[in-house]
Amino acid sequence: MNQIRNIVILTGAGVSAESGIDTFRDGGGLWEKHRVEDVATPEAFARDPELVLRFYDMRREAIQTRQPNAAHHALARLDAEWRGELLIVTQNVDDLHERAGASRVLHMHGEHLNAWCTACDVRSPWTGPLLDRPPCPECGEAALRPDVVWFGEMPYGMEEIFAALRDADLFVSIGTSGAVYPAAGFVRNARDLGAATLELNLEPSQGTGWFDEARHGPATEVVPAWVDELLARQ
Ligand code: OAD
Repeated sequence: MNQIRNIVILTGAGVSAESGIDTFRDGGGLWEKHRVEDVATPEAFARDPELVLRFYDMRREAIQTRQPNAAHHALARLDAEWRGELLIVTQNVDDLHERAGASRVLHMHGEHLNAWCTACDVRSPWTGPLLDRPPCPECGEAALRPDVVWFGEMPYGMEEIFAALRDADLFVSIGTSGAVYPAAGFVRNARDLGAATLELNLEPSQGTGWFDEARHGPATEVVPAWVDELLARQ
């Protein structure tokens, strides 16, 4: 491999699986007989807001009882010690990368621990439920929704992500099925822009063929091993 200086890391639900947070598509991907895609849309929220708010209230409550695992800690160590550019683009809406100590983190699908007011457009830190329609701390309207990007909505930070991909020498995808775009397409963008590409996942993802190299196993094993290897060569 050529000299690596700038790294973009994409993470997905598989990174948090061993912390006890359910992935989306393993185990059938059903929630109360609904496909995730049917709960996580603006149309579902308009049709049945209680169902959608209950789903996110449960997940928001659950993540607060979970702890970062060895994969989050290894990535935080890489963030702290890597002297080049590094960006952890996460599809996860939990805060386990941050709780492990990582700071160069971009939440492209939003964050559970934020509420977004559709009346005044302000995002506020939020740890409690939204089902009871609490007032927005900013404007007082009962118009809060989860600050999570739903299917059909624009992910956050795309300009920053593409700027980082343009400069990347290495793109690494960790714990994601490669089923949801635009994140699933980053490997091809990175390749086209000249980066080496590596997949770390429990099993081959849908896009595994696009990567130069793939290592398969639990994130708590393969991620710390890869971080050790990379830091030793820095
Ligand atoms: P998925 O549930 O689609 O995929 C999780 C991936 O993690 C699968 O490929 C698993 O094989 C892998 N995996 C499971 N356990 C693992 C472990 N212990 N170690 C390593 N890998 C493991 O989750 P995502 O790809 O993150 O979007 O899903 C992408 C998006 O789809 C989510 O951000 C969410 C969802 O709909 C929105 O909510 C907008």
